[in-house]
Amino acid sequence: MLAQPQSELRLQRPFVIWLTGLSGAGKSTLAGWVSAELRQKGFGTYILDGDDLRHGLNNDLGFSAADRKENVRRLAHVATLMYDAGLIILVACISPFQSERDFARGMLPCGRFVEVFVDTPLSLCEKRDTKGLYRRARAGEISEFTGIDSPYERPVDAEIIVDTTGRSVSDSGSEVLDFLIQRQLLK
Ligand code: PPS
Repeated sequence: MLAQPQSELRLQRPFVIWLTGLSGAGKSTLAGWVSAELRQKGFGTYILDGDDLRHGLNNDLGFSAADRKENVRRLAHVATLMYDAGLIILVACISPFQSERDFARGMLPCGRFVEVFVDTPLSLCEKRDTKGLYRRARAGEISEFTGIDSPYERPVDAEIIVDTTGRSVSDSGSEVLDFLIQRQLLK
C-alpha cells in the first residue's frame, strides 16, 4: 500500500536537487530538512543518500577515483528513474569530481537539475567529525579520505552555494527553498 495515497499528492513537475560537499558538510541534514518542508507542502520527494546506498546497491564500491565515479554514475541513473516517476529527488553525496556532476546534470532536461554546493570548510567538517572518520583518516587508519588524501573539486557552476558555518539548518534550508520558489520549480 502507498504510504501517501496519490490523490493527496500535488501535481508537480519533477526535478533533482544534487547536494555535493565534503563528508560532514551537512548534505544529508540539509536534504532531510528540505525534503520534509516540501512533503509538508504536498510534494512527493525521495532522498538518495550516497552513504546509505553504499550499504546496498553500491556495496561493491570503495573510494578509489574509479569507484567514486561509478558510485555517482549509479546514483545519477537512479535519480533519473525516480525523476521519470515524477518525484523531486534529493541526492546527497560527496561527488567530488566536476566531470561526474556534469554527467548527472546532463541526464536531466535543462533547468531540472539544481546543484547545491554545501561549502562547509574542511576545518569545520573535521572539527565536527560526527562519524570519527577524519580522526581515523589523520591517524592513517583510512586511506583515500576526501579532503585529506583524496581530492574534492569545488563546483564551478552550482546553482546554490551554502556555507553552513554558524548557521541553523533552517537558515540554510530556507535559502534552498527560496531558490526553488524564485526559479518557479515548485509549481
Ligand atoms: S562519493 O565520493 O560521492 O562516492 O562518496 P559517497 O557515496 O557520498 O559516500 C561518502 C560517505 O562514505 C563515508 N566514507 C568516506 N567518505 C569519503 N572518503 C572516504 N575514504 C570514506 N570512507 C567512508 C563517509 O561517511 C561519507 O558520508 P558523508 O555523509 O558524506 O559523511
